[in-house]
Amino acid sequence: MIGVIDSGVGGVSVLREIIKRGINAKFIYYSDSVNNPYGDKSDIEVYSIVKKIVEYLLNMGCITIVIACNTASAICVKRLRIEYPDILFIAIEPAYKMVYDYNREGKTLVMATEGTIKSEKFLALYNKYNNHKTILLPCKGLAELIEEGNEDKINQYLVNKLNKYKDIDNVVLGCTHYPLIKNNIKNIIGEVKFFDGSLGVSWELIRQLKKRGITFDNKSYSVEFIDSSGDISKKMRFRNLLNNIL
Ligand code: DGL
Repeated sequence: MIGVIDSGVGGVSVLREIIKRGINAKFIYYSDSVNNPYGDKSDIEVYSIVKKIVEYLLNMGCITIVIACNTASAICVKRLRIEYPDILFIAIEPAYKMVYDYNREGKTLVMATEGTIKSEKFLALYNKYNNHKTILLPCKGLAELIEEGNEDKINQYLVNKLNKYKDIDNVVLGCTHYPLIKNNIKNIIGEVKFFDGSLGVSWELIRQLKKRGITFDNKSYSVEFIDSSGDISKKMRFRNLLNNIL
């Protein structure tokens, strides 16, 4: 069983890529909407929240955990790997290396939560692949609006935030909620190349499962959805998002 964690429905963008790779596992997707946003919380708070979810998923029988949240990955994964050495943790990170590999000459906008942008893990990545044409843009409050699903509010937010970036070539979607609003972003800044970490996570998961000899012999995958608020509408939204993007 594979656990997938995010602070809401955004991590569906990661689960989609994993399912596309044909991993026939039983997935438990844990959407922690009660604690959304993680991006504004202190490292200590985020770690203690995520640790509780990890414990819950381990008790449910998960042996592999995908952290489908850039903020939680940036803050927690190093420590989790030390505390749970037998568990395979796969952690997303903003796809800034992909920009370096595929379009390093382009003017680049990195959109992410404040927590991710300020983290040691992201800064190491940024310093390693910095193309000197990069703007780091913390998007406080955006993940919450996407979680809420109000298109008008999302568009208003994006107009205010992105209007001055119409000459951008690359956009790094450094929060797993942001791939859900790619079209809204495009409507404001025009055609750009998008980069997000979900593809990298899906391949890394395959690599690590193979390395450890972990296989799943089910005929197809299944997904159990749990939301910390218990709000039933979250489940419907998640199912719709998963079906629409597969
Ligand atoms: N999906 C989370 C991320 O990737 C959302 C951030 C938040 O909860 O603030 O960072």
